[in-house]
Parts: sequence; C-alpha cells; structure tokens
Amino acid sequence: MEKVDLDWGNIGFGYVKTDKRYVADYKDGQWGEGRLTEDDKVTVSECAGILHYCQEIFEGLKAYTTKDGRIVTFRPDVNAERMVGSAKWLEMPPFPPERFVEAVEKVVAANAAWVPPYGTGASLYLRPYMFATGIVIGVKPATEYQFRLFCTPVGPYFKGGAKPITICVSDFDRAAPHGSGHVKAGLNYAMSLHAYVTAHANGFDENMFLDSATRTYVEETGGANFLFVTKDKKVVIPKSNSILPSITRRSLVHIAEHILGLKVEERPVALEEVKDFAECGLCGTAAVISPVGKIVDHGKEICLPSGMEKMGEVTQELYDTLRGIQLGTIEGPEGWIHEIKV
Ligand SMILES: Cc1ncc(COP(=O)(O)O)c(C=O)c1O
Repeated sequence: MEKVDLDWGNIGFGYVKTDKRYVADYKDGQWGEGRLTEDDKVTVSECAGILHYCQEIFEGLKAYTTKDGRIVTFRPDVNAERMVGSAKWLEMPPFPPERFVEAVEKVVAANAAWVPPYGTGASLYLRPYMFATGIVIGVKPATEYQFRLFCTPVGPYFKGGAKPITICVSDFDRAAPHGSGHVKAGLNYAMSLHAYVTAHANGFDENMFLDSATRTYVEETGGANFLFVTKDKKVVIPKSNSILPSITRRSLVHIAEHILGLKVEERPVALEEVKDFAECGLCGTAAVISPVGKIVDHGKEICLPSGMEKMGEVTQELYDTLRGIQLGTIEGPEGWIHEIKV
C-alpha cells in the first residue's frame, strides 16, 4: 500500500481532508443504507434541529499500524455502545453498533493510504458523529438525522517525551449533577470553551472541573478523565455520574488490575486529598495518558511528587502497556484490537 506523502512526525492535531467518509441518513423512522463519499460538505436546512437545539453527539477513536504491519482500531465496539447511550440521552435514534463498527472498517480501509506507518507515533483519528437534519422550530426532537464518520491523520501527541502539564481548578462548572456530563454531546464541549480559553489565558494547560453541586470532588477536564496514584501505588479513579466514561480510563483500570496486578479504587475523590497523591494523569484517546505535574487551586499549588520532568512510575507503566497493546507489541485482552481488512 502506497502511503500519502506526509511528514508523519510533524503533522500535529488538525484536520486534513482524506479520500472518503461514510454517511447514513435516518428518515421515516429508519436508518437508510450507508455509503462512502468523497464529498466532505454537509448541506442542511436553515431550520435543521442541529442549528437551533444542538442535537449532536460524537465519538473519537484511532486507527494504528502495528509493528507487524496490520491496520487496527482499538475497541470500536465500546465507542459504538457509548454513542447509543449518548443518542438515547438526546432523544436521537441510536445508530446500530454493528453498523458503527462496519462504518469504521469501511472508512479506514478506504483511507488506508492515510494510516500513518508504525514507528512514527502518528495515527489516524476517526470522528463518528450524528446530528439532527430534520426541521424543527418548536423545541422538540427532530425526526431526521445524519450519521457521518470521517478520518484525519494526527501526529504524535508527545514529541520528545511526555512533559507533565499544569492545570487549574476551574471557577466554572462543566456538568450538572443530573445533566449531560456522562454523554458525548457537542453541547458539553460548547459549555467548556469559555473555561478552556480562560485557563489558557491564565497560563494553564487544562481545567480541573469539580462537582457542581458541592465543588468538593474532582470530576474531569474538558476532554479527559483523571487517574491518580497513591504513594503505595494504588490507582484511584474519581467516580461520578457527571463525567464521561472514558474508554481509555476503563482500559487502564483493566490493565492495572489484571495485567499489572495493582489495586484500583473507583470512588469520589475530594479535592482536599489530591495533595496526598504521588502521581496524576489525564486519560483519553488523544494522549492515552497526559501526566499532570502541578495543580493550582486559586494560588495554592499542589505539586505532584512525580515532578515536572517525566511521567510518574506507575503512570508510565500503564501508558507503556496500553500503547504496546494498541501497537501490537503486547498481547491485549480479547476483542480490544479490531483488525481492519484492507
Ligand atoms: C469530556 C471527556 N472526558 C474523557 C474523555 C476520554 O475518553 P476516551 O478515553 O473514550 O477518549 C474525552 C475524550 O473523548 C472527553 O471528551
């Protein structure tokens, strides 16, 4: 397979139009047949539900080239299931999980030339999404929708090693206790942008959002779940109904318990106890784990003992194991690696 001519190590995280994307429409109470298209433009009515009442959900996952040259994706079935949950929450018709996986297979196979080669650190980012195309003027769910899936090559998240980041405790809330925080809907991200821009303007890399009811417990950042490690190497994961159930975090918990033999606790984590942890990381598809070196709570600094130079020891082990599974150098649990037939 001839690859497109890109400087894979330096492509960054941006959008590049690739060859083909997948489209399926929902009309008259059912999903129509999907198709691959070269057309990257979306045309909708000025009165489409997405434009007024924000009925949109999405997913994010990656395709990789393994050491032995196979093209694989990581647990696409779990993204498919999560999208069903998001759809139900937004009163949208779920896209059938088996069709979601089939769309992933079709798009990756049709864009195989864009899947970065092994060893470059780059990957092919896949963005499945679904939105209301049907006309609505009164506030109610639309009756017509479109599911799409496109891909774009993205560069290595960490160039020259993972540098720990500094985050701040946000003054803003991301999600209400019984709200939409646990679903992957565009509206949650619109809500997080002001907080994100404010954090950046103040010199921080990310926000730590707290539970909005009591502002006592750690929730997540705008795009990743937290993972903490205690001084005696226990992995601690914040538990809350208003955070997105990260597939990376769930996979890391499995690795910690079943591959590395570590103890894991999933429980509410008070901001007050963060100063006692040894390591902190942010888990998500983009970076697998971004190490956090410092958390600033309104001028009060919490410096993690793992420091500002490198990942903590346990975080690094978790990271290496999950990356190894994704790149085919470590055998993962059954079903985690989904090979794409090109
Ligand atoms: C709010 C939020 N939390 C967590 C995550 C990490 O989830 P995943 O590991 O499934 O990418 C993401 C990214 O998708 C996110 O947007």
